[in-house]
Amino acid sequence: MSKVLVSLVTGAASGLGKATVERLVKDGHKVIMCDLPTSLGKTVAETIGSNTNFVPVDVRSETDVQNAIDTCKNLHGKLDLIVNCAGVSLARKVYNFNKSSAHDLEEFINVLMVNTVGSFNVIRLGVALIGSNEPDENGQRGVVINTSGYSAYDGQTGQVAFAASKGAIAAMTLPLARDMALQGIRHCSIAPGLFDTPLINHLPSKVKNYFADMTLSPKRFGKPEEFADLVVNIFNNPFFNGEVIRLDGGIRFI
Ligand SMILES: NC(=O)c1ccc[n+]([C@@H]2O[C@H](COP(=O)([O-])OP(=O)(O)OC[C@H]3O[C@@H](n4cnc5c(N)ncnc54)[C@H](O)[C@@H]3O)[C@@H](O)[C@H]2O)c1
Repeated sequence: MSKVLVSLVTGAASGLGKATVERLVKDGHKVIMCDLPTSLGKTVAETIGSNTNFVPVDVRSETDVQNAIDTCKNLHGKLDLIVNCAGVSLARKVYNFNKSSAHDLEEFINVLMVNTVGSFNVIRLGVALIGSNEPDENGQRGVVINTSGYSAYDGQTGQVAFAASKGAIAAMTLPLARDMALQGIRHCSIAPGLFDTPLINHLPSKVKNYFADMTLSPKRFGKPEEFADLVVNIFNNPFFNGEVIRLDGGIRFI
């Protein structure tokens, strides 16, 4: 009889997280879907089917995240994979010299709180459950995959907060893997280029076409299913560890 696999995905109601849930369910995982209570998470979970459970979670909240982990434990008794996709973006220059106004500090803090602190919050509480798994033939108990971004390497004007949040995820990846090597918990991050999700809906089509053309090949945005495909590859390949993988069609911003 094949082993039941259990995953927890944040940002699961939309974009990369939603595509990841769909793929994991297709591959036979049971999935705890975490997203904001105001999101479409409940509806999305009902549409995807019986192997999903939506748990309203603000990744910044210790109580919410612990509740999601406890729900996972009560429903399935284990956890094999965490995929952190919850995130927000912001386009704001450090100082607007026309209006003599500085980048709002709360806005900067919020991007860091959701993208970086939120991911860390889910990892620090979630690995306790992964760590209680029996090790497999490689001495491994489970996997954590975080979402960094191209901005970790070539952040654009107006992306100071976003780049800081994604650079931190990239920098955390190796020490996370080192911290949990003894327990056999692998950590990788995916750094997406531009993907066709609601996160970038605000961009005018002229700008979208410009960015698509900058992509080396294929000349388009990434498809969320391509992100999900890499998640599954990382999960299934025991030698992926401590690494940030760019998934961006070769785009480099100058
Ligand atoms: N789409 C891109 O081009 C792109 C590029 C680089 C990085 N990323 C990163 O990929 C990840 C997924 O983005 P996406 O494109 O799927 O965006 P999206 O907006 O479609 O999905 C993000 C999800 O995160 C949820 N979320 C936001 N704040 C939350 C919070 N505090 N707690 C719980 N959930 C919260 C939202 O409700 C939403 O469902 C993000 O971390 C984003 O920064 C995306």
